[in-house]
Amino acid sequence: MPRHFLELADHPASTLWSLVALAREIKKNPSAYRTLEGQTLALIFEKPSTRTRVSFEVGMRELGGEVVTLTGAEMQLGRGETLADTARVMSRYVHALMVRTNDPTKLDQMAGAATIPVINGLTDRSHPCQVMADVLTVVERKGDISSQKIVWLGDGDNNILYSWVHAAVAFGPALTIACPPQFMPKKDLLAWSRQMGGKITVTDDAAAATKDADVVITDTWVSMHQTDSPQRYETLMPYQVNRALMAHAKSDAMFMHCLPAHRGEEVTDDVMDSAQSAVWDEAENRKHAQKAVLLWCLGKTEF
Ligand code: CP
Ligand code: NVA
Repeated sequence: MPRHFLELADHPASTLWSLVALAREIKKNPSAYRTLEGQTLALIFEKPSTRTRVSFEVGMRELGGEVVTLTGAEMQLGRGETLADTARVMSRYVHALMVRTNDPTKLDQMAGAATIPVINGLTDRSHPCQVMADVLTVVERKGDISSQKIVWLGDGDNNILYSWVHAAVAFGPALTIACPPQFMPKKDLLAWSRQMGGKITVTDDAAAATKDADVVITDTWVSMHQTDSPQRYETLMPYQVNRALMAHAKSDAMFMHCLPAHRGEEVTDDVMDSAQSAVWDEAENRKHAQKAVLLWCLGKTEF
């Protein structure tokens, strides 16, 4: 069975910790990891992307490999070729496949048929590669993650948050989610995290949630698969990350956002551009974290 990277919860915490450690080593000494010469990664995008596309393309090349980038619309997928057949064919040409799509079951179908590793490059449900970069960013800045208080503000039914809940279970920080009752995290996700011993709290009180936070995170209020409406913005406005809200966090709290940010909506300029903001390191860390994932998927690690 190929080493897929579909959800963080599929992997033991020890593997995820090893990936973070490897990503730090790769970041320090990139030229020591050119071990994918002769290998090709295909990237399939059924939604737009800036960071995921560029960080995977550049990362794979830095590892010595090649890349092919495709959009679903330009492939026969767009004319009805099945996902499973596409995965079977891609498996004969390339060594790994990253897919960004809407429905997570599409990714499962591809992974089920592929004989090469399949990597989740975001679905409506989750974004594990992003959260590996996020964890790396927290560890770099704070020296540790398990003792931190991490606060998520805004849409509780969000794909980044979904992977953060998985990460909170694996890496052990306390995760407080502040969201309006209309936009709560999925019940089965919360039930799973509690059963797994995750330190997860959900509240609708943004200020109380942010008290003594070490890390404050938000994301767009309208993800690519969601529909905006004036009511949605009005409901989410109390969860905007602005200076007044950041004042409740610890004075050395860091701010994170997967980007793209909608300045003036979920976050204000004075937080995005402040010394507390880690967003550019976080974006850079996509490349380092994904290089570690690629090496693991392609059997180039000792774990
Ligand atoms: N954070 C992230 O995945 O960005 P892109 O949509 O630009 O890839
Ligand atoms: N939640 C966002 C993340 C973008 C990287 C979306 O799905 O659009």
